[in-house]
Amino acid sequence: MLLVLLAFLKLFYVPGVGSRLLLHLGLKSSPLYYMKIELGPLRSLTSLRLQSVRITGDELECLLSNSLALEQLKLSGCKEIIFLKIPCVLQQLKSLRVLTCSRLQAIESEAPNLSRVYLCEGKIKFSPGEALHMKDFTLWRVNSICYARAELPSIMPNLERLVLTSCDEVVNTPMLPSKFLYLKHLTITMVSGGAFSPSYDYFSLVSFFDASPSLETLLLNVSSGRMEHESVFGGTSHLRQLPEQCRHDCLKRLEIIGFSSAKGLVELTCCIVKNAVSLEHLVLNTLPGRGWCSKVDNRITCRPFSKTLFEEALRTVAAITSYIQDEVPPGAKLTVVEPCERCHSSSR
Ligand SMILES: *[C@@H]1O[C@H](CO)[C@@H](O)[C@H](O)[C@H]1NC(C)=O
Ligand SMILES: *[C@@H]1O[C@H](CO)[C@@H](O)[C@H](O)[C@H]1NC(C)=O
Repeated sequence: MLLVLLAFLKLFYVPGVGSRLLLHLGLKSSPLYYMKIELGPLRSLTSLRLQSVRITGDELECLLSNSLALEQLKLSGCKEIIFLKIPCVLQQLKSLRVLTCSRLQAIESEAPNLSRVYLCEGKIKFSPGEALHMKDFTLWRVNSICYARAELPSIMPNLERLVLTSCDEVVNTPMLPSKFLYLKHLTITMVSGGAFSPSYDYFSLVSFFDASPSLETLLLNVSSGRMEHESVFGGTSHLRQLPEQCRHDCLKRLEIIGFSSAKGLVELTCCIVKNAVSLEHLVLNTLPGRGWCSKVDNRITCRPFSKTLFEEALRTVAAITSYIQDEVPPGAKLTVVEPCERCHSSSR
């Protein structure tokens, strides 16, 4: 059974006997609608979605404690929840998605089989207990990259897929002895309104590569509106490397979107490429995103971008030729996504 509660529902009735729960449904700027649900133990409820439901953390915990078969829980826009506890009786709960619950501060989960979690929220403190089954974790918050590197190897030792999005990341990722032994797929997106702070060191991301011996795919998205980092063509020509070799046998694909000539980014790429002996595909996209200059059925579509970004893209192509091309292992294919002629004429 799937139960979906949406803000625009005024009336909702689940037949049953047992505990009572009063849910308040709120519409954006209109009076509250109240509804009453008679809840029996919801034995067959496997999926619960609450969207813009005015339910408190305590009320939700009560609802959850009665839903022993629950496998999936999705909360969005539930602004009354400040603290959420997921009780350990939810032995079947595998998937949790939380987004835009703006006042939520902490989630404490005791569900033993939780394996997939998606948290898109500013500052939630997430304590998943002994999350030995956690395989797939998505986190969207400020400085999520540094946080994930420092905290997750011990909390979620069996992670296989990690997706991190960080807004204006300012803290460099530390090198640490802890490992993500089973991590296969890693996506890191850095979001910025304008330019990333030039004091942010892209090379520090090498810490994830160093920590993840099973990594198969790595996608880095560092698209920004401006490039303010020191270019690899300025200053010293010495490129940093890891103090020790860290040979990777599993990495097959590395893709970087928004690749620039920033020295730290070139160093990071060289370091990964030199050590990834089984690399099959290296994609360096010098445009601000996928699909900026695309060719479908011989028709080219370009989105206009600024002259500065266009010039930076040309400098980046030169950096790839000078510093990276020769490091690519023989079996790997290098794809450089660069502006076409038409992009040239549409840049201004
Ligand atoms: C969930 O976890 C419990 C206790 O850790 C275990 O006994 C049970 O087999 C698990 N159930 C599933 C469906 O994985
Ligand atoms: C890359 O990041 C930008 C935001 O900075 C986002 O708009 C875009 O969808 C991302 N692209 C991919 C392929 O993830």
